[in-house]
Amino acid sequence: MADKIRVLLSEEEVNRRISEIAGQISLDYEGKELHLICILKGGVFFTCELAKRLTVPVSLDFMSVSSYGDDTKSSGVVRIVKDLDESLKDKDVLIVEDIIDSGRTLSYLMEVLKQRGPASIRLCTLLDKPERRVKKQVKVDYTCFTIPDEFVVGYGLDYAQKYRNLPYIGVVEF
Ligand code: IMP
Ligand code: MG
Repeated sequence: MADKIRVLLSEEEVNRRISEIAGQISLDYEGKELHLICILKGGVFFTCELAKRLTVPVSLDFMSVSSYGDDTKSSGVVRIVKDLDESLKDKDVLIVEDIIDSGRTLSYLMEVLKQRGPASIRLCTLLDKPERRVKKQVKVDYTCFTIPDEFVVGYGLDYAQKYRNLPYIGVVEF
């Protein structure tokens, strides 16, 4: 049976906000080249929409990660399922993520990627759920929307691999 989905952020709202953030990022990186790292799979829709709106030269790479073990074992260890194709050496890197929840994935990933010698490394997320944060040290440089503690889908985010393709962000009404 189809799940009921309530619209939280419409396609227009999301796209308008991505344009704003893209404008800010383009200003911040003026005169530089930006190396975007898309965190698969959830970050893919946001990365495309963001990249299209950036006015600085952009290169792209992709990485896929999954959390080790279950929620009860909060080791914070993340497995790299697909690593980057290119080196980060001396690049201005921007990690593009769909949502920061506990912050475990990104706190681990930031540490790993910092070791690879980028000129700079920043974090950009479509959504942030700060109420859920376990890893308080995660610093988010660009946030499109801060949302309450609700399970959301669409714009890349899934529920059991479904709904990534919704053009808006919705809440699954269980
Ligand atoms: P964390 O910040 O390490 O807890 O994990 C973030 C990841 O959990 C995201 O990249 C998503 O894949 C997933 N996630 C967290 N909250 C949601 C949600 O509301 N909807 C869909 N996926 C979510
Ligand atoms: Mg994700």
